[in-house]
Amino acid sequence: MKSLYLRICVTTVLVMIISSLLAFIAANIYYQSNLKPYNDDKVTHMAEHIKAFYEDNPEIDLNAYLDNIGKLGYQFYLVNNQKEGAFYGPDFREKTIAQNAITSVLQGSVYHGIVEFPTSLFITGFFDNTLKNTIGVPLEVNGQTYAMFIRPNLEVQFGEMRIFFALLILLSILLSIVLVLISTRYVVKPIVKLTEATKMLARGKYNIKLDLRRQDEIGTLANHFTVMAKSLGQLEEMRQEFVSNVSHEIQSPLASIQGFSHTLLSTDLPEEQRREYLSIIEDESRRISQLSKQLLTLASLDKEEALLEITSFDISSQIRQVLFMTEWNWREKEIAIKMELPEIYVRGDSKLLYQVWVNLITNSIKFTEEGGTITLRVRQTGNSCIVEVQDTGIGIAESDLPHIFQRFYRSDKSRNRKEGSSGLGLSIAIKIVEMHRGKIEVESKLGEGSTFRVLLPSE
Ligand SMILES: Nc1ncnc2c1ncn2[C@@H]1O[C@H](COP(=O)(O)OP(=O)(O)OP(=O)(O)O)[C@@H](O)[C@H]1O
Ligand SMILES: [Mg+2]
Repeated sequence: MKSLYLRICVTTVLVMIISSLLAFIAANIYYQSNLKPYNDDKVTHMAEHIKAFYEDNPEIDLNAYLDNIGKLGYQFYLVNNQKEGAFYGPDFREKTIAQNAITSVLQGSVYHGIVEFPTSLFITGFFDNTLKNTIGVPLEVNGQTYAMFIRPNLEVQFGEMRIFFALLILLSILLSIVLVLISTRYVVKPIVKLTEATKMLARGKYNIKLDLRRQDEIGTLANHFTVMAKSLGQLEEMRQEFVSNVSHEIQSPLASIQGFSHTLLSTDLPEEQRREYLSIIEDESRRISQLSKQLLTLASLDKEEALLEITSFDISSQIRQVLFMTEWNWREKEIAIKMELPEIYVRGDSKLLYQVWVNLITNSIKFTEEGGTITLRVRQTGNSCIVEVQDTGIGIAESDLPHIFQRFYRSDKSRNRKEGSSGLGLSIAIKIVEMHRGKIEVESKLGEGSTFRVLLPSE
């Protein structure tokens, strides 16, 4: 079976057929066990009644009497011990009956052909128009005993009801099939739409609008699908932006290296100028190398499986180490350093967290004018450890604050380019801190300075 539509239709129709069959069998079993004895009883009463009336009024013409009742919807067979028999009412389909049944009725017993009718799975004896399926009672006619077999004629009694029920069943089957065909279309349609949408997604179209206003599981699926498509679209946009940023960042230092080396090769320059150009080439290549190092760090952090090597270490001594390493930079700018660095142990990946302090402290040095102050504090509150890097530098504009953790974001591009910035430092820092289930808060005022606060869970 090819389509879901066909599959659902065929399955439903099959289910309908199987359940009708089972229902028929169950109803039949119920008839055999409960209704058959009741029906037998009812017909026996009728026979007794007919017999009693005749025996009370022997002067009436039996033939006319039975003929009349036959016309009202009963079938009779009247037979004596000479096997002289007569039928009244509509014909039986099958007119045989066991001889001993006749004999036993002639001897005075009642024949219960209805209750004794053989039990069979698919045949309801109720409708079987045979002589066997009757009630037999003995009847005295002019001093001679007859056996009278009687059966209600269902064709007369239920004729139009049978048509009514047959029509009811047929119509309900036909209507259910038609309705299944229609309703299945309704069920399958959103799936077809979703499939179309996935194809669109595969073709790179992310702005998908599914016109499905359904509250059920498929509606939820469609909603999730559009959300997923949107975020995939954003991801793709970010990826493209990232690639173009990277190429741009690599392109400009390469262009200047190319330009200066060309000049150096093609012209005779005074020694001083030659040195200046060479040092620019050195700076630019250092920038590219720094950039590629940062990109590698980001890539390795982006891999979710980047496993942390957790150890317990003193965070203050790590920060002192960073200060020592950057000493030349802050001394050159005559920046004063204030420290509140008590011994506080945290558990984390020491190599990665070291990178966080380097990035924050180099930022502070880079964005603080000569003679400024940088304050470093480490403290413990509750179950988190707080590291604060505060400077009296240039500060960050309120409009820039929400963006500074984005990759390649620099608030003052021209100035930063000179400083050799690529705008990756804070994005690396926040990534590492988040991997440690911590967070970074920033307070900053343009022209007054900034405070970066790292909160790390200490256990
Ligand atoms: N202490 C600070 N004072 C003022 N501005 C800051 C400070 N720290 C960060 N910023 C602003 O946030 C931007 C992003 O910082 P980030 O560390 O990510 O990049 P970067 O320092 O410019 O480059 P990189 O760190 O990759 O060399 C900076 O360009 C700067 O505009
Ligand atoms: Mg930085």
